[in-house]
Amino acid sequence: MRTLSNQMKLVFQSRSANESFARSAVSAFVAQLDPTVEEIADIKTAVSEAVTNCIVHAYQEQIDQIYITSAIYDDKSIVIKIRDRGCGIPDIAKAMEPLYTTCDTGERAGLGFAVMQSLMDKVRVTSKPGKGTTVVMERRIVSKGAKHV
Ligand SMILES: Nc1ncnc2c1ncn2[C@@H]1O[C@H](COP(=O)(O)OP(=O)(O)O)[C@@H](O)[C@H]1O
Ligand SMILES: [Mg+2]
Repeated sequence: MRTLSNQMKLVFQSRSANESFARSAVSAFVAQLDPTVEEIADIKTAVSEAVTNCIVHAYQEQIDQIYITSAIYDDKSIVIKIRDRGCGIPDIAKAMEPLYTTCDTGERAGLGFAVMQSLMDKVRVTSKPGKGTTVVMERRIVSKGAKHV
């Protein structure tokens, strides 16, 4: 059993300006594990994709809250939970298929979940239509010489 070493929580509005705030805040928190530049870049990209989904899909035209919890465990893994109380996803398996998108403006490639899955060790999605969606992503920091937390 791994033990929780540290945790942070963020609540912010679903404005696109907050997408870079969220990924920077999470990466600043992860920095205490002394990750490589690549590890940080991967985590930032995955957080960006999940937060963008809350902004553009979950809440669409309205502004509401996005909740992030990041937890660091003693095995140097980071678990990031990104939650919204938006429209929800009726078929999660389908939504996670590469190239699947409900956006019909041609602006989205339908690769957000595929990117999250390729950059993180684990991605779990739970959702209730009308209630919201939670994405939980996990990545173990393996860089050498990492500081003890
Ligand atoms: N937080 C969310 N709330 C509601 N629907 C979502 C959410 N995240 C993803 N989706 C749905 O899953 C689909 C696939 O997401 P994604 O792989 O990121 O592709 P894209 O964002 O390019 O459409 C979206 O088009 C949307 O229908
Ligand atoms: Mg997306």
